Amino acid sequence: MQAQCTWTQFQVLRSPTATSFFTFSKHSQKGSDSSSIRTHGRINNNYPSLMATISTQNVPVSSTHGNGSTQFTHQPLQVAKRLEKFKTTIFTQMSMLAIKHGAINLGQGFPNFDGPDFVKEAAIQAIKDGKNQYARGYGVPDFNDSIAAHFEKDTGLVIDPEKEVTVTSGCTEAIAATMLGLINPGDELKSTISKNTRAILINTPHNPTGKIFTRDELSSIASLCIENDVLVFTDEVYDKLAFDMDHISMASLPEMYERTVTMNSLGKTFSLTEWKIGWAIAPPHLTWGVRQAHSFLTFATSTPMQWAATVALRAPDSYFNELKRDYMEKKEILVEGLKDVGFKVFPSSGTYFVVVDHTPFGLENDISFCEYLIKEVGVVAIPTSVFYLNPEDGKNLVRFTFCKDEGILRSAVERMKEKLKKK
Ligand SMILES: Cc1ncc(COP(=O)(O)O)c(C=O)c1O
Repeated sequence: MQAQCTWTQFQVLRSPTATSFFTFSKHSQKGSDSSSIRTHGRINNNYPSLMATISTQNVPVSSTHGNGSTQFTHQPLQVAKRLEKFKTTIFTQMSMLAIKHGAINLGQGFPNFDGPDFVKEAAIQAIKDGKNQYARGYGVPDFNDSIAAHFEKDTGLVIDPEKEVTVTSGCTEAIAATMLGLINPGDELKSTISKNTRAILINTPHNPTGKIFTRDELSSIASLCIENDVLVFTDEVYDKLAFDMDHISMASLPEMYERTVTMNSLGKTFSLTEWKIGWAIAPPHLTWGVRQAHSFLTFATSTPMQWAATVALRAPDSYFNELKRDYMEKKEILVEGLKDVGFKVFPSSGTYFVVVDHTPFGLENDISFCEYLIKEVGVVAIPTSVFYLNPEDGKNLVRFTFCKDEGILRSAVERMKEKLKKK
């Protein structure tokens, strides 16, 4: 069976507190479909899904004829085989439903407030200064420098900005380039690390659970990776939103830098999610593969935004402290509100998400609960079954985001208090 593998499904969880990760084997399997990633995890295809396939639908196409009349013909949607199994993402579906029902969107993780003026001004200035043509493929030199300096400050590791930093279009592209550049077609997904494992992908702080890997946990994973000669791809986009404990980069553990690709981006830390400025940090022998893939994916990333991002990463500590303080306040409002509504709220140590158990309200599963919540209550959450290899494992859980202003968070809680009744 095949895993649904948009990037959001890379972060698979087994329980709201136990984060797992995907592993990729070193060897291609003969006879396997080389265009897909295969999993040993179970997928229950009977699970009721909002992600119903749309590949059999017909879409109307209009054509104007010589006599001026317009005719509609219906054309089947087309998609390459490797993408046939993918569905419209749950985020798109929920956001569309939210608009239709005028619901408050605590589903998709984008702030409803803007990024800081000093970064926006820097982008405007860069555009005015004519920094508008293709950038160097692996990054505007000043930006590579500022990423390296930022990484050194966070981890103590001194890296070469020219040889070990690749600027990408968001962390999403960093993940894609890392996979394409360092994983072979036919490599497998497995749930355990072995000598055959080529790489694992981890995410800390973790979306959706909010879990942060502790030093002990990272050390155990690191030992296994060293013992079995496994690469680690680590997505750390929420590193500045680590509330209950410090964020630790896997790359900073002994003997790990040489086998780790650290991926990050500007979006969450600077509330500029659509700028899509990201990067991958890795030793030169791994950077080679990442850059090769990046060259053929996007080649280069928006020049003026890289100049602005350079300014962003040089922000004083006070900026990052304030960001964290603001988010802790928002988290408090939402978490306390959700408890008052009657949810069982799981602890979230980082990110801007919190996972709750919706079962006190008597809906059959996470998807029915989210549909009910949008249509009858006017609030959007994300069903977590989409994050699991076995969707059944997530059927009692939904995710809320608190990257919204206080007014929005309080209104959402009020709506739920008023209209959600325990069964
Ligand atoms: C864990 C994680 N990684 C990566 C991304 C995407 O990052 P970017 O917008 O920089 O591509 C997200 C966005 O929600 C995320 O939650």
